[in-house]
Amino acid sequence: MISRKSIDDVMLAARIDEVVGDFVSLKRRGSNMIGLCPFHNEKTPSFNVSPSKGIFKCFGCGQAGDSVKFVMELEKLSYPEAIRYLARKYSIDLEETEQNSEQKQEQMDRESMHLLNEWVMKFFEEQMLSTDEGKTIALSYFRERGFSDQTIETFALGYHPPQAGILYNSAVKAGYNPEFLIKTGLVIEKDGQHFDRFRGRVMFPIRSAAGKVIGFGGRILENDKKIAKYLNSPESEIYHKSSVLYGLYESRKGISREDLAILVEGYTDVISLHQAGIDYVVASSGTSLTTDQIRLIKRYTSNITMIYDGDPAGMKATFRGLDMLLEQGMNVKIITLPDGDDPDSFAKSNTPAFLKSFLQEEASDFISYKTGVLRDEAAGDPIKTAGMIREVIQSVSLIPDLVLRSVYLKETAVRLDTDEQTLITEMNRLISERQKHHPQRSEETPLEPAREVTPKPEESTPLQSGSFAQEADLIRILILYANLPVSFLETDEQGNPEEHLYRAGDIIVHELESDELLPQDAIHLEIFNCFRTLPDDSQDFPGEQFFLHHDNRQMAEYVIHLTSTPYELSENWQNKHQIFVSTEADTSRKMVMTAIYAYKLRRVKALLEKMSKQLETFTEEEEMLKLLDEMKSLQHAKIELARQLQYVIV
Ligand code: CTP
Ligand code: MN
Repeated sequence: MISRKSIDDVMLAARIDEVVGDFVSLKRRGSNMIGLCPFHNEKTPSFNVSPSKGIFKCFGCGQAGDSVKFVMELEKLSYPEAIRYLARKYSIDLEETEQNSEQKQEQMDRESMHLLNEWVMKFFEEQMLSTDEGKTIALSYFRERGFSDQTIETFALGYHPPQAGILYNSAVKAGYNPEFLIKTGLVIEKDGQHFDRFRGRVMFPIRSAAGKVIGFGGRILENDKKIAKYLNSPESEIYHKSSVLYGLYESRKGISREDLAILVEGYTDVISLHQAGIDYVVASSGTSLTTDQIRLIKRYTSNITMIYDGDPAGMKATFRGLDMLLEQGMNVKIITLPDGDDPDSFAKSNTPAFLKSFLQEEASDFISYKTGVLRDEAAGDPIKTAGMIREVIQSVSLIPDLVLRSVYLKETAVRLDTDEQTLITEMNRLISERQKHHPQRSEETPLEPAREVTPKPEESTPLQSGSFAQEADLIRILILYANLPVSFLETDEQGNPEEHLYRAGDIIVHELESDELLPQDAIHLEIFNCFRTLPDDSQDFPGEQFFLHHDNRQMAEYVIHLTSTPYELSENWQNKHQIFVSTEADTSRKMVMTAIYAYKLRRVKALLEKMSKQLETFTEEEEMLKLLDEMKSLQHAKIELARQLQYVIV
């Protein structure tokens, strides 16, 4: 663990313009700097850096954060890795806090396992390249499969000779601890005896995204149906098969460059495509695709093209993977290969140029893919056709983005020549059924009927359409101006007017707490709570900086979006033309109270709407009267609030 103090030192030293400046050429514009966004393709700059706030924000793609976030995103580093990167840049010695002995042991174990694997990989390479047996058996096997020497080197392919104990004995002789040979699964211990797991196989090292050797896959040389074709390293402290993608280390640059990842099934598919110039390909290698694997891809791109084998098993895996990818918000395309081909064989039997254009032209979106596959089965049978439509809608219903989901739904209606309204109904049914089974997926919101003219009813999107905008505005003011003194005229005991100063933060916290109208949105509430729990009155409220660099990175990012404005006058304008920009702070009381009233008014209106709906369902007269009473006082509050806001009530 890096000590808090070291992290603070790094944050203090790291200047956002310098950190970003290593990667992006920046021009000064007013107090900010501007350049071309490194996270998305653009021709006119919308990437802003604010040295005074220590943050960046792209108004094109929405990426935002501080120095740490910038290097994390750009270089795909973890948080501690990013801190280490910045520490190196600013020559800061990091203090690593004392780990407890158990943690230390674990870390040392993992490092030992990595070191051993690294050595073993080289051992396998050497066995293949510099022994006669290796050359005639393994090297010629790979060459026959069409792998070039360069490819063999890139993927560090090798050979595990079949002689009993060859790996175990060589590793121990080289000074490696047998314990780690067992822990990595390279050696199996049974009744005090040691057996090499992969003996007699050609070897595919499996690397982490950062390039560390974490495991191996081993393939038999002859096509013997009785033995498993591939053996893989077992789960260990450093190898978790469900969160590894084969080829990611070799492909990550290509994936970033193309903003696209090709997903295949096997080791050799990755290798052959790579050799043919498709250097943005990864494999789930033998496991069915997992959410962890998808998240791993998502760090580099949200576009993915699946090419699984054309057999029934591959098709089933495609259907399943497709839904998982959609659910994670990925844009998915699918390529169907000619029967009997897999990406490896297809790459080898075609020229790289053809392959490239094939990948571009044959990729179909998931609607076409699913209907294409199912249409043949349905063949005019109305029941099967209905089933096919349901299949497609099922996939559409998984897309988390509401807008995208409705675009796809429209598309489905057009392509399958069905009534959109019917599809919406069916999809909403699917979503609510899922919500019943998995109540935690509450972020899903059913689609509104397409042609509806009235505004959305309150329950359908409880937060966004409720008080969200007003709530966000109030939180924004809290973050920016909590310490701002606001003056009020109050009467003293003798009835004389007296000026009182309160801090904006105290007023907002008091107003919301006393009316029990705490923010409804989780992140708003979390921010709000930072203002409620101050040790004593003499302390300042946290300011914008506190949130911009908060450890809760999701919150930090949200605050950047909330408080940054895309337009800032250049210094030139302000100085030369003596233009005085009136900021919100100039009219503090009006600003604070307007935000509070607008927020409360929105909440009261929402409550009233909810109650009048409840009213329709009540049958007990007593209950009804009680509710009507409550509604009456809320109506008064509503009118009063509106008056305060100088709204015109019709
Ligand atoms: N796999 C595995 N264990 C097996 C079979 C397959 O772990 N017994 C994994 C491997 O990662 C393999 C992938 O599943 O790469 C796809 O399997 P398959 O299509 O059968 O193998 P290919 O990749 O086509 O391998 P090859 O071309 O060498 O036959
Ligand atoms: Mn194959």
